[in-house]
Amino acid sequence: MKKTAAVIGGGVIGGGWAARFLLNGWDVRVSDPDPEAERKITQVLENARRSLPGLSDALLPPEGQLSFAASLEEAVEGAGWVQESVPERLNIKHAVYARVEAVTGGRTIIGSSTSGFRPSQLVEGAAHPGAIMVCHPFNPVYLLPLVELVPAPQATPAQIDEAREVIESLGMYPLHLKKEIDAHVADRFLEAVWREALWLVKDGIATTAEIDDAIRYGFGIRWAQMGLFETYRVAGGEAGMKHFMAQFGPALKWPWTKLMDVPEFNDELVNLISDQSDAQSGAHSIRALERIRDNNLVAMLRALKAQDQAAGALLNAHEKTIRAGTILNARAADIAEPALPVVTLHRAVPLDWTDYNGHMTESRYLDAFAQSTDRFMEIIGCDAEYIAAGGSYFTAETHIRHLGEVNAGDVICVRTRVLQGGGKKMHLWHEMYLGEELVATGEHFLLHVSLETRKPVDAGPAVDAALRRFADAQAGLPRPEGAGRAIGAPR
Ligand SMILES: NC(=O)c1ccc[n+]([C@@H]2O[C@H](COP(=O)([O-])OP(=O)(O)OC[C@H]3O[C@@H](n4cnc5c(N)ncnc54)[C@H](O)[C@@H]3O)[C@@H](O)[C@H]2O)c1
Repeated sequence: MKKTAAVIGGGVIGGGWAARFLLNGWDVRVSDPDPEAERKITQVLENARRSLPGLSDALLPPEGQLSFAASLEEAVEGAGWVQESVPERLNIKHAVYARVEAVTGGRTIIGSSTSGFRPSQLVEGAAHPGAIMVCHPFNPVYLLPLVELVPAPQATPAQIDEAREVIESLGMYPLHLKKEIDAHVADRFLEAVWREALWLVKDGIATTAEIDDAIRYGFGIRWAQMGLFETYRVAGGEAGMKHFMAQFGPALKWPWTKLMDVPEFNDELVNLISDQSDAQSGAHSIRALERIRDNNLVAMLRALKAQDQAAGALLNAHEKTIRAGTILNARAADIAEPALPVVTLHRAVPLDWTDYNGHMTESRYLDAFAQSTDRFMEIIGCDAEYIAAGGSYFTAETHIRHLGEVNAGDVICVRTRVLQGGGKKMHLWHEMYLGEELVATGEHFLLHVSLETRKPVDAGPAVDAALRRFADAQAGLPRPEGAGRAIGAPR
């Protein structure tokens, strides 16, 4: 059943949540008194549509419907989840919860995006405190997976499980904190780093640009993949964490940091920092910076995905749940009509597949077709287990034709035919479609090899039979236009 989320407060964060829900197939009703809210959310949604769908190698569900409710009550009525992202003022949040509870009677979870309030503060005076919990996301909410989940003590295990399930279903990672603390966990780090940075600028040690360089050329890259402790464990070398602690522990007593002192936030400091920031980044609009940020985040997340590490491992796990039960998880025996071309790829084109023109870059056509070939191999039983047992197909020849333009975010679908199959040989014909338009073809000739001798050998009987079933059923289809075509031959 289609689910509806009520997004209360549609600013930077509420807009990000709206996009996250919509692009994962939920309908979204927004309540925000600001007449500018619709324009602002539309902008966030535009960025999200450009970057999120292609992040995954599996196609997300069809986008849900966005609407703007005339009142908070209208937004909340019948919703399966309420996400509050109103300004960080406790009295505003309390007033919102009272109105939401009057409609939901505590039956619907109210997630709060609060960066700083503890759940026990949020639930003061609430009729159904167990249903109100901190669900603290990170900007941009549509790309970054972390949600700090901090329930109030009154929350039941069932309510916590429900929240966890919803967050996971959005491709996000619920970090369930068992004890509450002001500003949760992640923002406490950020505050510490922010404090140090303010001192460094104020004392004239480093500019805003130099501080950003210190992060992005070094530990910032390390943190995204291993965090703090695993990085330090590696830094301890063979002797590991204990050695690291012994080596660097005493340094904590040296005057490296100003720790809890905060420089006075006066006009002088604010101007110093904003002037340096203008000099550093003023040439770009915020919109341009958002796009640069999103391009980089997508590329980094997809790099981690290829390594199956950190947030990339989460993407892979989520993808498995999206694929489950779809055609993209089927095996040969599940395909009732082997005479028809088989869908071997269905995805949105990711940002890191495009070139300076915004088009899908040439090498990615081969990437897409190679994924289709891999998927077809899996369908006929040449899967990880079969390959581990010593057999596989190696590609001997490839011919790609580019017939139409493909851009970032476009949903492409590859249908695959078997032109010849059996014994050592597999001759595949991939057609890539954008809607009904044929945009590329890929013709691939593969040989089955023994991974031990690296020489061609016949495929195992089960794989051979599955391949021949497609080859025989498709033998009667007309030969595709362009198959076997020599490069440069007249069309
Ligand atoms: N900005 C961040 O980086 C960030 C990150 C994580 C969490 N948060 C948290 O998210 C929440 C929202 O922050 P933001 O940065 O999106 O603020 P924002 O000012 O961009 O958006 C707040 C929105 O709430 C609307 N609003 C005000 N009163 C309302 C009401 N009674 N009902 C419905 N809408 C109302 C405002 O019109 C505005 O559009 C805060 O609790 C903040 O701590 C912010």
